[in-house]
Amino acid sequence: MRTRTLGRTGPAVSAIGLGCMGMSALYGEADDAESIATIHAAVDAGVSLLDTGDFYAMGLNELLIRDALRARPGSRDQVAISVKFGALRDAAGGWYGYDGRPGAVKNFLAYSLNRLGTDHVDVYRIARVDPAVPIEETVGAIAEEVQAGRVRHIGLSEVGAETLRRAASAAPISDLQIEYSLFSRGIEAEILPTARELGIGVTAYGVLSRGLLSGHWTRERSPGAGDFRSRSPRFSGDNLDRNLALVEALRKVADGKGVTVAQAAIAWVLSRGDDIVPLVGARRRDRLAESLGALDVTLDDADLAAVEEAVPADAVSGSRYDAGQMAHLDSER
Ligand SMILES: NC(=O)c1ccc[n+]([C@@H]2O[C@H](COP(=O)([O-])OP(=O)(O)OC[C@H]3O[C@@H](n4cnc5c(N)ncnc54)[C@H](OP(=O)(O)O)[C@@H]3O)[C@@H](O)[C@H]2O)c1
Repeated sequence: MRTRTLGRTGPAVSAIGLGCMGMSALYGEADDAESIATIHAAVDAGVSLLDTGDFYAMGLNELLIRDALRARPGSRDQVAISVKFGALRDAAGGWYGYDGRPGAVKNFLAYSLNRLGTDHVDVYRIARVDPAVPIEETVGAIAEEVQAGRVRHIGLSEVGAETLRRAASAAPISDLQIEYSLFSRGIEAEILPTARELGIGVTAYGVLSRGLLSGHWTRERSPGAGDFRSRSPRFSGDNLDRNLALVEALRKVADGKGVTVAQAAIAWVLSRGDDIVPLVGARRRDRLAESLGALDVTLDDADLAAVEEAVPADAVSGSRYDAGQMAHLDSER
C-alpha cells in the first residue's frame, strides 16, 4: 500500500483512507456484519486510516470500529483513527449546534476513548467551528490532550483559510478534512493553497459526492427519510438529472481507460497532490475493492484533460449541503 504523510507534522497513512460514517449513519440502513468485514478487508489491504465522528449514530460508529479492531488482535496499532467531535444531538436524532469549549473537548474525548477501547486517538478535530469559541481555544484544549498522550495529532474540519491560519498559530495541525471531488472544487481557490503554505495536509471526503459520482447512482434509487441524500440539493429534481448527465460523460472517459467511474473520480483526487488523502466511504467489501483499485489508475495529462472536459470545474448543479447545513461551514464564508 502506498502511503502519504498528513502535513508536515502528521502521520504517514495509506494513500486512501476508509471513512466509516455510512456504516452506521446518514446513508440509510446499515449492515454491521458487512461493515466489520469491510474494515477487516481494508486493514488486510493495508489501509491505515479510519475516520469516524463521535456523533455518527451517537457513538455507535465508534463502537463498531472498536468491535472490528478487537476481532483482529494487533490491528489497533496498524491504523490511525481520526475522530471528529463537537456536534450536539437531541434524542430525536436532530442536530442543534457545536460545542468547542475546552471543557467540552476533554469530555468528548474521554467518551470517545472509552467507546473506541483505546488509550489514544491519532487525529482529533472539531467537526465544525463553534462560533462562540475562538478556534485557538478549541485547538489549545486538544494540544493539552496531545501533551497528555491521549491525542497524537490535531486536525480541522471544513474551515476556511483564515481559521486555518489562526489554528496553525495556536498548535501544529496535521490535516484539514474537507469535501473535495470533481463535483466540489471550492477549496482550490484559497483553502488548498493556504493549507499548502502552512504545511497542512488534506483528508478529502465526499470524493464520490456521497455516491452520486460513483457510477452506481440511478434516478430510480430513492433514499429514505433518514438518508442525508434525501435532503441534498444535488440529489434532487432537475439537479439530479443534470448531475447524472455529467457522470455519464465521465463514464465514457472511464470506459476508454478500462476503469470504473468511481475509480476515475478517486484517481482524479489522488492526482491533485501527494498532500491529499481521499477518504472513501465504502461500506461493503466490493465497493472497497473498487475504490482501492483507483490506486492502480494513472491519469496522464490527456486523461486529466478528458476528465475535466467531461466534468468541468463548476458544472455541478446544487450546493453540497442544504441551506441550514451550509450556514455551519466556516469553509464557505
Ligand atoms: N468532515 C466532514 O464534515 C465529513 C462529512 C462527511 C463525511 N466525512 C467522512 O468522510 C468519509 C467519506 O465520505 P462519504 O461517505 O460522503 O464519501 P463518498 O465516498 O463520496 O460516498 C460514499 C458513498 O458512495 C457510495 N458508493 C458507491 N460506489 C462506491 C465505491 N466504489 N466506493 C465507495 N463508496 C461508493 C456508497 O453509498 P451506498 O453504499 O449507499 O451505495 C457510499 O456510502 C465518511 O465516511 C466520513 O468519515 C466527513
